[in-house]
Amino acid sequence: MPVPLFDLSRFAGGVDAAIDEAVLRVLRHRQYILGTEVAALEKEIENFLGGGHAVGMSSGTDALLALLIANGIGPGDAVITTPYTFFATASCIHRVGAEILFCDIESSSFLMSPDSLRAVCAKLVLGEDGFHRTARGNRLRAIMPVHLFGTCCDMESINVIAAQYGVPVIEDAAQVLGTDYPGRDGAVKAGLIGEMSYFSFYPSKNLGAIGDAGMAVCRDAALAEKVRCVRNHGMEERYFHKLVGGNFRLDGIQAAALRAKLPFLDGWNATRRGNALAYREAFAKTGLLPQVTLPAEPFASSGLRDHHIYHQFVIRILGEGKRDAVQTFLTQQKIGSAIYYPVPLHLQECFAYLGYKPGDFPESERAARESLALPIFPGLRKEEIEEVVEGMRQALA
Ligand SMILES: Cc1ncc(COP(=O)(O)O)c(C=O)c1O
Repeated sequence: MPVPLFDLSRFAGGVDAAIDEAVLRVLRHRQYILGTEVAALEKEIENFLGGGHAVGMSSGTDALLALLIANGIGPGDAVITTPYTFFATASCIHRVGAEILFCDIESSSFLMSPDSLRAVCAKLVLGEDGFHRTARGNRLRAIMPVHLFGTCCDMESINVIAAQYGVPVIEDAAQVLGTDYPGRDGAVKAGLIGEMSYFSFYPSKNLGAIGDAGMAVCRDAALAEKVRCVRNHGMEERYFHKLVGGNFRLDGIQAAALRAKLPFLDGWNATRRGNALAYREAFAKTGLLPQVTLPAEPFASSGLRDHHIYHQFVIRILGEGKRDAVQTFLTQQKIGSAIYYPVPLHLQECFAYLGYKPGDFPESERAARESLALPIFPGLRKEEIEEVVEGMRQALA
């Protein structure tokens, strides 16, 4: 029996009718770009997160671009992030003309390593103007941890390092709408742990639109206003441009569909967690576990229900060439899987000018060789999970 990697048609009953109604509403009131649906979605996301100032954007990528522009980050500046992430995280830093500075990830979690971040920061030189400069002479302006696959980076450590170097933290929260982080003063939603963040509503995200969409979130109201201005060509008053922004506006239809889906999100996230547990039980019976490593849950001991929302269920398969052989076998069996991400960004052709080489970020490179995402979407059946694990057993037999 084929098992899809992802199948939107199997999401909880009732959501299709809610989306139909929402889309029809927009067709009737005709506010196709920004307007009441976008304003309402922004408020609903703020309520869901429990704070912040949300700005609806045309995609997660555009949300990040607008955040960087609103912060005035550009030529002469540098931003630190990790190379084991989706391209947009780093490409937006490049697109505003700033320097991309990478640090490595932790082997256990695939997430930014505070030790590696500290080591990269320690090489910066403090200038007379109070900025820490890279070897190329650029000023460190922000640190961008990426919360991959459904759980958060070690934000407590990262926030401390950022404060030491006097720069804000921009959370790449594209994959974690709904994840709780155990902060010093209690639970805080991902996206509100640093100074600012962004989410993606790409259709396969835990909350997906019916096209492209995203959201920037700022703790500071004035910065959010600036992002709002950047979103619409830097205009507050029509045809008077305060700064050079872009067309990063969110459509009414996307916002309405997201509003229709938002009430389902908690339930879907719980289903994903249930699927993760079913995988753990099924893998435990196979004896594959020394060869296969299951996703870490760095904040499980916090007792927070939503410490992980399993946007992806990413395992590691140890052994030279084993991951690729397993994926080939699963594909032959018509079992879906994916590699997030096969080439770490410091080794991408377009970033060759940065001068990085193989071996510079060994954990990111190892993750790119060993990781494999298995189906985890809401609607996946228990028998299918068992079939995926049986496929893995046969592949590694
Ligand atoms: C980690 C990460 N960052 C950034 C993005 C970019 O978001 P979008 O596809 O909405 O532009 C995505 C999603 O694709 C992502 O997964």
